[in-house]
Amino acid sequence: MGYSLLAPGKRLRPLLAMLACEASGGKSEQALAAGCAVEMVHAYSLIHDDLPAMDDDDLRRGLPTCHKKYGEALAILAGDALLTGAFQVLVEGYPPRTAAVSVLVLAGGAGTEGMVAGQVLDLAAEGKVPNTQPPSTVSDLEAIHSRKTGALFLASLRLGQVAAQGEVGLDPVVREAIDRFGRAFGLAFQIADDLLDVQGSSDQTGKRVGKDAARGKLTFPGLIGIEDSRKRVRDLHAEAALALRTIGTSAHGLAELAEMVAERDR
Ligand code: IPE
Ligand code: IPE
Ligand code: MG
Ligand code: MG
Ligand code: MG
Repeated sequence: MGYSLLAPGKRLRPLLAMLACEASGGKSEQALAAGCAVEMVHAYSLIHDDLPAMDDDDLRRGLPTCHKKYGEALAILAGDALLTGAFQVLVEGYPPRTAAVSVLVLAGGAGTEGMVAGQVLDLAAEGKVPNTQPPSTVSDLEAIHSRKTGALFLASLRLGQVAAQGEVGLDPVVREAIDRFGRAFGLAFQIADDLLDVQGSSDQTGKRVGKDAARGKLTFPGLIGIEDSRKRVRDLHAEAALALRTIGTSAHGLAELAEMVAERDR
């Protein structure tokens, strides 16, 4: 669990939680438990995503994948325990009302409506889900990306707002702005991930590249080409920046983070 969780990742989801907490009028430290919980769910999703039955990868965050290091059985269990532990961290970290809402938000982002649904659809596009027409269009792919990656980003941002406002009630204007930001940011992030698989290097990304096409994954560069994918990322980042305008200066940190991520090469 520690090997995968503490390996050098970008910690984007905790940052989103902390900066959304600030944007919602809180102090970033209030979102520390939320940030830890969401990073634990993310680390579990990476461990399982890399398993031979899924993407079958041997390099993650610059290190051998969890199952390469400890074997498949322990990797599956490490993922299970990180997922379960994330909810424990939320319940231990917040007063009852905030904790209850946070648990709901994280479960929604991670589960059958969120990340897991996206991973199932991702496998369906590889023809690995029986009795299912494989997704194949751009709108199918947006549905995959918004779930497998976007849902956890959205949950991170919402958790930040809940950490700031959970006991007093969520401001609907902030909620709406954060959701619009999160949807655009999340989709841009996964398109960029698809692009890095085509154009990035293992040294930069800490994972193998060139694997999506080899596995027959449905990806943005595969479907609409590199140039149009890049343009889509730029447009989505502009949309994300626009969404933050209604919040004002407290959303400055989120806006800065989005700018940094727009230029990412890892
Ligand atoms: C990788 O996420 C998996 C995707 C959802 C694209 P990140 O690119 O945030 O991975 P780390 O946390 O930095 O390792
Ligand atoms: C990741 O998508 C989605 C997860 C829920 C982990 P990818 O399969 O494209 O992520 P990488 O490229 O292996 O990091
Ligand atoms: Mg995958
Ligand atoms: Mg993968
Ligand atoms: Mg990828």
